[in-house]
Amino acid sequence: MASEGSFKRSELRKSQRIRLRSDGGTETGHQKLVRRMSSFDTVASAPVIFSLKNEVGALTKVITLFKENDIHVRNVEPRKSQRRHSELELFIDCEGKKGMLRELLKQLDELLACVEISEADRIKEETIENEMKNLPWFPQKISDLDRCADNVLMYGEELDAEHPGFKDKKYRERRKYFVKCASGYKHDTPIPRVIFTEEETQTWNLVFKELKNLYPSHACKEYVENLKMLCEEGIYKIGEIPQLADISRVLKERTGFQLRPVAGYLSPRNFLAGLAFRVFHCTQYIRHASDPLYTPEPDSIHELLGHVPLLADRSFAQFSQEIGLASLGASDDDVAKLASCYFFTVEFGLCKQDGQLRAYGAGLLSSISELQFATSSRALVKPFNPSDVIKQECKITTFQDSYFVSESFTAAKRQIREYTTSILRPFGVRYDPYTQSVDVIKNSNEIMTAVDELKDDLGLLNDTLTKLQSL
Ligand SMILES: [Fe+2]
Repeated sequence: MASEGSFKRSELRKSQRIRLRSDGGTETGHQKLVRRMSSFDTVASAPVIFSLKNEVGALTKVITLFKENDIHVRNVEPRKSQRRHSELELFIDCEGKKGMLRELLKQLDELLACVEISEADRIKEETIENEMKNLPWFPQKISDLDRCADNVLMYGEELDAEHPGFKDKKYRERRKYFVKCASGYKHDTPIPRVIFTEEETQTWNLVFKELKNLYPSHACKEYVENLKMLCEEGIYKIGEIPQLADISRVLKERTGFQLRPVAGYLSPRNFLAGLAFRVFHCTQYIRHASDPLYTPEPDSIHELLGHVPLLADRSFAQFSQEIGLASLGASDDDVAKLASCYFFTVEFGLCKQDGQLRAYGAGLLSSISELQFATSSRALVKPFNPSDVIKQECKITTFQDSYFVSESFTAAKRQIREYTTSILRPFGVRYDPYTQSVDVIKNSNEIMTAVDELKDDLGLLNDTLTKLQSL
């Protein structure tokens, strides 16, 4: 309950929020964060109102806190508490650095142990809690992905009548083996190593050889560089299909991404949720040998040649994770829109490098014919814009009607990031790489805790910079 006699921490914090927001404008999220963080060192004045319990030394303890936090007291008005007559109420007009003011409030809160939040704030918190209860479930720690991977929409053994392997009994039995491998997988256990057949290896050889010739002239430079790295590591080679376990180890060392075997199609919500934890769900089966240059579904060759090299790129890894984080707890409609953005970037994206169209989408980088088509003058290529992309139909078994090109890979990332800020959720999320979990941020206190951690990191970098400059 609000009362004049209670310590009005919430009022001060609200006024701080208002001041921070009033500086607004058209700055980016990053610029806002930098400004907000630097604002902790700017001087501000604030009224602090609180009541003291009638105990010996209480006032001395409080005044010591002001001194220790370097807060200048401009005016003090003592008065009898309107709420509890046995208590003394103090109105203190003070001035100090914003960061120190915040620290003071935290310490007063602990010392006085009688803080009550205002009615308005209480109602707001209850509203957020109620909205949270109605949200779709989403994983908050990496092991929760076991639950996502259990919800496979279509198993890899259930082939469509149009599938090249539909009438091949041997192939269908083989697909059952891959389903079994992936279905039993749990987080933090070794990815099963597969002994591939001679036929499967021949299919890999054929596709890899053909595409390798096209990459220098059709793929973006980040892809070419990372494919080279995977070849130099001895993981990608003709004559042997790479093992997911080996790739996962290399990716983890470079970008923190890891692969997780999956039995079949996941829903967009579950697939995108994996990206939030830098986990890429990956099939292990190989397309039917009768048509090595075509697959109606994402097989392991699509994952290995289409997705993996760019997951080793730090910037691309961050981009993929941000799409995943934006999807957590989002509405079905927003998840569908994010899935479209993912489809026309991560799967079918084009960018311009040195004045040339280059592919960075996995659907293109794993398809000889579509890679050539999308980068030719025959394809309809439009400037990338998320609001157009979400209206575009995603084609699965044919070439796309349109492809979307970004001025640069970085530009596409920025546009997606701006778009994801329009998704309405009663909370924000932040990935904690130390615990591999997602922090759900619902109020300004939780934001401030996250900012404190960022300040520590920036402080370390600043110290390093100072040392380097002094050499
Ligand atoms: Fe894909």
